[in-house]
Amino acid sequence: MMKRNEILEEMGLTPIWKLRRPPEKNDAGTIGDRTNDWSAVATVVVTANAQDAPRDIFAETAPRNVLVAGDERARRIAALAWEDFSKDVAACRACVLCEKRNKAVPGVGDIDARWLFVGEGPGAEEDKKGEPFVGQAGRLLDQMLKALKMTRNHDVYIANVVKCRPPGNRAPTPTEAEACRPYLERQIALIQPEIIVALGKSAASLLLNTDASIASLRGRVHCYRDVPLIVTYHPAYLLRSLTEKAKSWEDLLFARKQLTQETE
Ligand code: URA
Repeated sequence: MMKRNEILEEMGLTPIWKLRRPPEKNDAGTIGDRTNDWSAVATVVVTANAQDAPRDIFAETAPRNVLVAGDERARRIAALAWEDFSKDVAACRACVLCEKRNKAVPGVGDIDARWLFVGEGPGAEEDKKGEPFVGQAGRLLDQMLKALKMTRNHDVYIANVVKCRPPGNRAPTPTEAEACRPYLERQIALIQPEIIVALGKSAASLLLNTDASIASLRGRVHCYRDVPLIVTYHPAYLLRSLTEKAKSWEDLLFARKQLTQETE
C-alpha cells in the first residue's frame, strides 16, 4: 500500500507547509517537482474570461427550422457506434470551433471504464495531437490518476465538454458546449461509467445544468442521469494552487469511496 505522503508526493502536494508563494519556473516546467509554469497558467485563467468569444454559427443560424436539424443531428449522434464516433467528431461543423481546429479531440481511454473524467476542451497541444489532456494540466491529471493507481488507459476514460479547441484557450461558450453535448452524451451512454468526475466549471455547468461555483458543488454526490457525479477543480486551475490541489485530492478520494460503496 502506498503511504499517504507518497501519494501526495506523486501529486506534488508535499510538503504543504513550506510553500508560501507560487512555485518557481524551471526549464522543464514539470509538475512532480512543483515547478509548474505559473505564467502560462495565469494566461489560461485570464483568457478564459475573455469577452471576445467568436460568434457561433449554430446560434447565428438558429431560426426555428434549425432546431429540427439540431434534433436530427442529436438523434443521429445518439445512435453512433464507437467505430464511427471519432470520424463523426472530426467531420463535425456544428459550431465555430471547427474552423480553426487542427485535430478534433474526441476522447481517450478504456471504453469499458468505470471512471469518466470530463474536462473543458482541448488546448494547443491537444489540438496538435488529437488527444485530451496531453499538456501541462494533463500531466497533473496523470499524476492524480497514478496516485489512485490508475492510468488513462485502464478503467478510465477522459473526454471534454467540447471536442475542438476554443481559440486562445478560452472557455467554450454555452452555445459551443450545447452544440457538442450530443457527443458527450453518446460517450456516456456507450461507456456507462460508474462515476463521472467533472473537472472544472464548464463540465460541471453542462452536466449539472447549473451556474454554481466549483467550491459550492464539491464535496457532494450529484447525479448525471443516474450516474453519480463528483465535481472538482480543473487541473489547469490546480497548477496555480497547492491548497486547491489538496482539496482536489480529497475529491478524488471521495469519488473512489462512492465507487467502492456502490460495488460493495
Ligand atoms: N484542458 C481540458 O479541459 N481538456 C484538455 O484536453 C486539455 C486541457
